Formats: sequence, C-alpha cells, structure tokens
Amino acid sequence: MPVVLGIEGTAWNLGVAIVDDEDVIVERADAYLPVSGGIHPRDAAQHHADSIVGLLRQVLTFALEKSLKIDAVSFSQGPGLGPCLRTVATAARAIALNFNIPLIGVNHCIAHVEVGIWKTGANDPITLYVSGANSQVLSYNRGRYRVLGETLDIGVGNAFDKFARSIGLPHPGGPRIEEHARGGGRYIELPYTVKGMDFSFTGLTTAAREAYERGVSLSDLCHSFQETAFAMLVEVTERAVAHAGKEEVLLAGGVGANRRLQEMLGIMCDERGVGFYVPETRFLGDNAAMIAHLGNLQLKARDVTPLEESGVNPSFRPDEVRVTWK
Ligand code: ATP
Ligand code: FE2
Repeated sequence: MPVVLGIEGTAWNLGVAIVDDEDVIVERADAYLPVSGGIHPRDAAQHHADSIVGLLRQVLTFALEKSLKIDAVSFSQGPGLGPCLRTVATAARAIALNFNIPLIGVNHCIAHVEVGIWKTGANDPITLYVSGANSQVLSYNRGRYRVLGETLDIGVGNAFDKFARSIGLPHPGGPRIEEHARGGGRYIELPYTVKGMDFSFTGLTTAAREAYERGVSLSDLCHSFQETAFAMLVEVTERAVAHAGKEEVLLAGGVGANRRLQEMLGIMCDERGVGFYVPETRFLGDNAAMIAHLGNLQLKARDVTPLEESGVNPSFRPDEVRVTWK
C-alpha cells in the first residue's frame, strides 16, 4: 500500500503529513499568525520558508525510524497566495528529486473534499466548502467536480475575518464571532444576497460594520451576521442537493468548524432525509493530511505531475481538474 508525503502551505498554515490508504501516519504543522491585520502574503511565505526544513526533518526522521518508504510527494498547486504556493512547490520538487519519487500537484479545494469523504465515509455528496478565501458548493459529475454555486466576491471566512477586524477583534475572526454570537438573541436585519446559485458577502460585511458603529450590541450583531451568512449557504446547498439528486451533504473548510453552521445544515438535511457528514475539526481547516491523501488517490490512478508542469496556479479552480481516481 502506497505511502505519500504531502505538503500544504497555500495560506496561513504550513504542514507536512505522511498518509497511507488507512490513516494519517504522522503530521506536523506550524501556523503563521499575522502580527497585525490579516494575512500578508510575503510574510506568510517567509514564515513558510523559515519553517519548512524543520518540519520536513521531523517528519522524515519519523519515517526513517519506522522504516517507512515514501512512494510520492504531493503539494498544493493552487489556489492560494502566490508567494506561499511557490515556496511549498520548491520544497516538494526538492524532495521528489532527492528521493527520486513522483511529484504530484493537487488542487487544494478538491483536497478539502476528498479528505472529508475519506474520513466520514460519505460516498457521493454535495460538498459545502467554506473557508477564508473560498466558498463553493461542489458536486461530482462525469469526471469533474462541478461548481454548482459560489461566492461572487469574498469567501465567507474572509467576511468573518474582515468584520471582526473592523470592530477590533483579533485574527482569525471566525471563532471570536461564534463566541460572541452565543450570547445573542435579537435578530438584526442584514443584507441577504443570493443570486441564482451564487452568493455574496461584502454587502453583509459592510452593513454589519455600520450597524456596530450605530451602537448595535456586539452579541446581537454577531448572532445576526452568522444567521444571515449561513442561511444563504444553506439555501444554495439545499437547492444543489435537489438539482443534482444527491443523497448526502458534506461540510468542508475552516468555517465548517462553526457549530451553528453545522446545526443549520443538519436541520436542512434531516428535513430532506439526506445524510449529513462533518469530519473531525482537524480535517476541516487547512491541513497537510488532505494534500497527502489526494496525492495518494492520484498516485494510484498514475496521475503524477512532470517537473515541467509543476508550476503553481494561484487561481486554480476545482472544475479545471480531470478526476482520474474515481
Ligand atoms: P482556503 O485556502 O481553502 O480558502 P483558508 O486559508 O481560508 O483556506 P481554512 O483553515 O480552511 O483556511 O479556513 C480559515 C477560515 O475559517 C478563517 O477565515 C477563519 O476565520 C474561519 N473559521 C475558523 N473557525 C471558524 C468558526 N468557528 N466560525 C466561523 N469561521 C471560522
Ligand atoms: Fe483551505
């Protein structure tokens, strides 16, 4: 059974993991936390460059002690921040050349989906993939992951982070807003924007900041922000389930850690009689195990990346990938 080493570093999290078909064998991560404001791409890349050798050394030492033979190395080819992607790709190429093993570039969004399927036992779900930079409703159909709906502007996690920052809460804002929302009860009307199967979050973010400046209580506002953003996502996910005729919903991405989002999606799935799947939190946000796992799927399908095609793509879409492993 193949053993694959994967490296993730598209944005804030740098991680290295080794997996086989059954489980994650070892994983080490070193998160970049901005000193102020949001993520600065060049600072994040510098963090990854400073940290990658140490992480690789730890994981490779572990492999050596366990006499593991690594069959391939995978990395996120995109989407993500250009400087971060290039740093990680360089490390992955060096490992491939040094050990003379195949190099496998993977799509970061699809890795979020595939690790969820692997870890929950879902079979063929509609996936709601919600993270900082991305928000998409994905469905597998005839050789590709189709994007049935997506954000027209920023990812929902980014909306949480922006709103939080504008009212003085530290980064990342998502978990803070969830905490403040727990104390809230009163619903304040905020912009709800669904256009066809797509949604948008900048209007909501701006209106929430303005409401805060007008003196609306923080907990009522966080509560209303969550309810509005998540209602949009649940509406589109529900329509995707009906349209594609699928019987499962999978939650993926860092925002998936939010309990209220899990609850709202769970209620929708119960009402429709479809299965609802959420992996452990460590497999929701960015992690290296998901990159190693998708690398393993591609390796078994002999879908490897020649060195000359291993360039990164900061705007790599999941529907550009021909799925070879299903
Ligand atoms: P991608 O490259 O896929 O867009 P990412 O770099 O945004 O990924 P993730 O770890 O998938 O990374 O997601 C991070 C986002 O998740 C941040 O915007 C963060 O605020 C948000 N988040 C984390 N926990 C929660 C929560 N409990 N509620 C809401 N948002 C959350
Ligand atoms: Fe991600």
